[in-house]
Amino acid sequence: MKADRPSSTALFVAAARGLGAFLPESARLIRDPYGMSFGGPALRAFDKLATPFAERLSPRLRPSGRLELGILWLQLRTRVLDDYIAEFVAAGGRQVLLLGAGYDTRASRLSGLGADVAFFEVDHPATQRHKRAVLAREKIPADRARYLAWDFEAQPLAALPNALAGIGHDASAPTITIWEGVTMYLTESAIDASIRCVRSLSARGSAFAITYFEREAVRDNRWMKFFVSRLGEPMRFGWQPSELGPYLSERGFELVRDENQPEIARRLLPAAYATRPFTSFRRIALATVA
Ligand SMILES: C[S@@+](CC[C@H](N)C(=O)[O-])C[C@H]1O[C@@H](n2cnc3c(N)ncnc32)[C@H](O)[C@@H]1O
Repeated sequence: MKADRPSSTALFVAAARGLGAFLPESARLIRDPYGMSFGGPALRAFDKLATPFAERLSPRLRPSGRLELGILWLQLRTRVLDDYIAEFVAAGGRQVLLLGAGYDTRASRLSGLGADVAFFEVDHPATQRHKRAVLAREKIPADRARYLAWDFEAQPLAALPNALAGIGHDASAPTITIWEGVTMYLTESAIDASIRCVRSLSARGSAFAITYFEREAVRDNRWMKFFVSRLGEPMRFGWQPSELGPYLSERGFELVRDENQPEIARRLLPAAYATRPFTSFRRIALATVA
């Protein structure tokens, strides 16, 4: 990421979450009414004018092709992680840590989880600055979020747990850490340091949800590489699925679930949508403290 520029990929995925409002009801798995607020004037104007009428407009504006696939993927990814958080909270967990939070608005969207659930958001300073400015400007309720600006590549991750303690995180109580849409942009050393850092702040009963790309796709998918590097955030890292379990286990986590995009689509979408040409290199894994 460029040091002084908010993340463009964060804006892209937040907008895609918001655009989910234009999908037919059967394919809508989550609602993010704030997703488009982080964009520029044109996107915000579209949001204000069109989203309230999405139900009526969607037969005309219904996205198709790559755009539809991207929006559907954000529905799936968000829903899987929302479900992991809901399961964690149902089991008694009360701390949600969003690493590379971007314009994730779970602290606002998931208000039904209970007022005692705390959200800790760690992100690159430039992205977090923009996010907080937009939350204030749009009066988006985010009272349950506590913020920490951190550059994973430039600041020592070993110091992150102490810094989180400074904003109220309790490392002796369980935490669910959500690492959504971040691993592909980090270097291998930042990945290793991040996982060790998450382990050191994860008490027994903690969970760790990770979205990742298969390494071969990071290496070979030219269209995707071109797209994200044009956004200024080149892709750098992936695992092969068979490696992830041992990799996490060496760092104190047990892999309990690891699904790819088509598997998640079949699990959550109606048949007409589940058969869209989803790509199998995008994956979501869940690990617990071993
Ligand atoms: C694709 S966005 C995902 C945002 C959010 N998790 C979501 O899914 O909506 C990638 C996020 O990684 C963050 N990021 C990338 N490199 C980073 C770094 N070196 N330090 C801190 N955050 C970084 C960006 O600021 C951005 O918020």
